[in-house]
Amino acid sequence: MTNSSEAVRFPDSFIWGAATASYQIEGAAQDDGRGPSIWDTFSRTPGKVHAGHTGDVACDHYHRYPDDVALMSELGLHTYRFSIAWPRIQPDGTGPVNPRGLDFYDRLVDELRGRGIEPIVTLYHWDLPQTLEDRGGWTNRETAEAFAEYARAVHTRLGDRVNTWTTLNEPWCSAYLGYGAGVHAPGRTDPAAVFQAVHHLLLGHGLANQALRAAGVSTLGITVNPTSAFPVDPASEADAEAVHLVEGLQNRIFLDPILRGGYPADMLAHVSRFTSLEHIRDGDEKIIGEPIDLLGINYYSPTYLTASDGAPGGGGAFPGTEGIEFVAPAQPLTDMGWQIQPSGLTALLTKLGRDYPGVPMIITENGAAFPDQLHPDGDRVEDTDRVDYLDGHLRAAHDAIAAGVDLRGYLVWSLLDNFEWAYGYDKRFGIVYVDYLTQRRVPKASARWYQEVIRRNGID
Ligand code: FCB
Repeated sequence: MTNSSEAVRFPDSFIWGAATASYQIEGAAQDDGRGPSIWDTFSRTPGKVHAGHTGDVACDHYHRYPDDVALMSELGLHTYRFSIAWPRIQPDGTGPVNPRGLDFYDRLVDELRGRGIEPIVTLYHWDLPQTLEDRGGWTNRETAEAFAEYARAVHTRLGDRVNTWTTLNEPWCSAYLGYGAGVHAPGRTDPAAVFQAVHHLLLGHGLANQALRAAGVSTLGITVNPTSAFPVDPASEADAEAVHLVEGLQNRIFLDPILRGGYPADMLAHVSRFTSLEHIRDGDEKIIGEPIDLLGINYYSPTYLTASDGAPGGGGAFPGTEGIEFVAPAQPLTDMGWQIQPSGLTALLTKLGRDYPGVPMIITENGAAFPDQLHPDGDRVEDTDRVDYLDGHLRAAHDAIAAGVDLRGYLVWSLLDNFEWAYGYDKRFGIVYVDYLTQRRVPKASARWYQEVIRRNGID
């Protein structure tokens, strides 16, 4: 492991960037024909989101994007990962395309390219059109088919200027948090629905992959949030089995069909405890397993597991894990209560590199929430805790590269403070502070630090 005072340099071609997502920053929820999404509905459901916050205004990025792109340019970002709001493009999820919705992304892409910043598009970062949810959402196979149609429509408009396409962001969260734990939209708590959603999300990815390839896309991927899970007792066989099951539910159930041609047998057996497997049709795994060029990895914190009789397991987020204790995170913690452990990133990347060789990886999200305070001068935020977090995780990423992992880039979550889902505006992940009353942006110390990292292509 690199010593925290040692200088590190990244490969010359390493890509530096920042990430955001449509519902978290855009606002303009009613503008230019945008239809309602499941997050509009969920955030309006009493008790679901901190203090009743919604994404109605968020960072008002929809109107302020030229300034935000100017800021990205000032920071020296090579790339910017953003997501497209499906309900702007097809307000009802299917059917006619709304050209005014596409116009916004058209302008954004031109602005980025005009500043030499390469766009990375995420087609789905959780804002499903509500009309589709009304028909079953991701538990309905038709949503997967609709997703491919939508992907094609976006590509038709942006394909001449966007080179890197990713389908889904963190399908684990969409399926398990949205349909199992009920803490994300649409807020359902049904394990059968979880596993139907897993499959239809994967199928949607595969169908979109086929549609985009047919349209000529050459760089295509998906972003996942695999667990970096450890046994409490490395010598315990039961703890190792607990890790294997949780990795199955969060990692292998997605990555094996995408990168190894099919579901792992133990996961099919696990799923069949909750639902028949009829929703998995002959030929689906072939579609899901179409080659990808890039695997996006989001990493924030590790998970510790131990087998323990009577332990409740991970609840709706991990159906069927009774008898496993998800150990409370140890210090130090972020403002989310997430354990800070950079070596969890090195371990994850090296494991994935071993288990799924041949596909380049990029860190599509990494970052931390801290209770930032705007300095009384109003012009700075001294977020040294975030600088330490990023410093540690970049060194950890560098360790993985040194160990032979094909890691192509790093995107910080997030460019801006934003709507942190069920936590609303209460959690700040940005390297740029957002004053939500005035919409003023104030680059934090971490933004200046990151600017230097990019300039030097490393840390001193
Ligand atoms: C990830 C999400 C992203 C953000 C971070 C903190 O799970 O992809 O939108 O909320 O967590």
